[in-house]
Amino acid sequence: MALREQILKYLRESGGCVSGEELSGLLHVSRTAVWKCIRALRANGYEIDSAPNRGYRLLACPDRYSAEEIGAGLETELLGRTAYCYDSIDSTNEEAKRQALRGAPSGSLFVAEQQTGGKGRLGRSFVSPAGVGVWFSVLLRPGVLPLRVAATTLLAGAAVCGAIRAQTCCPAMIKWPNDIVIGSKKVCGILTEMSAEMERVEFVVVGIGINVNNTAFPENLRNKATSLKLETGAPVRRVALMQEILRRLEKLLKENAVSFTPAFLKEYKAVCVTLGREVRFEREGALVSAVAEDITPEGELAVRLPDGTAETVFSGEVSVQGIYEEGRQSGI
Ligand code: BTN
Repeated sequence: MALREQILKYLRESGGCVSGEELSGLLHVSRTAVWKCIRALRANGYEIDSAPNRGYRLLACPDRYSAEEIGAGLETELLGRTAYCYDSIDSTNEEAKRQALRGAPSGSLFVAEQQTGGKGRLGRSFVSPAGVGVWFSVLLRPGVLPLRVAATTLLAGAAVCGAIRAQTCCPAMIKWPNDIVIGSKKVCGILTEMSAEMERVEFVVVGIGINVNNTAFPENLRNKATSLKLETGAPVRRVALMQEILRRLEKLLKENAVSFTPAFLKEYKAVCVTLGREVRFEREGALVSAVAEDITPEGELAVRLPDGTAETVFSGEVSVQGIYEEGRQSGI
């Protein structure tokens, strides 16, 4: 561990003042070396108080993505234990796929302050400006049949919805299968991609994009998108939110590895805004209207058509009456 990280660790763990002398003794370096690290940490946004007879005290940490910040207080065994952080990247999903081919381990996290080519579903783009969002991807090497991978997407939606509710008290809901909405506007989108052969999944990349501290959106998204800050009126700490999602996702992946548990389905349905509403989807080139009735044990959407027949929708675009509709080109 670099000296800077070790000093930060001591400051965090002490919760109070640590003298330069104590740090230099503990870490077997000069007091000047300690001072230089404190100066570098301050330059990186850490607020560190120093008083002549008491020493250094950590007052506040920057809400920026760094391996140190993500690792501190991360309650997972696998997810996020290897973290790749970028100031700017084309797309964290693309980077995760590139690194997967180079052997990055399962659970690796790819997170960026900004994406210049953020990707949405169905070839759409995903607006990901600097410093305001939680734009990240997790690489999984699940060793499961390709079909079960669709389940990952529902689990990710539930993990995000739960984390937003826990950390902000916003009444986030899931638009099946995994968009997160607050009221009628979208706050988060999820893009799951995989590399697989017929019987074996090589890897899965789950990409999550949450509008956190955005204060404005491009004109074409204004009526469709919202952010946690716009909803709560206060900034939300992005690193803490991401840590909470990783913790929840890891737990859900473990518990639902073979099939969805009844408890998961119950919780998912309780926050699924699609249920009980009129929905529209495309079937064989025609637009079909129906009422969404249930989520099947496999995670499909069970709908009832106007003539009374029941049907299940496996994937694809389902628009929900009263909830934003996505455009064809640039997305949220
Ligand atoms: C959608 O709503 O259409 C899915 C949006 C997914 C966006 C996230 S942001 C992090 C990751 N990297 C990407 O390029 N896309 C996903």
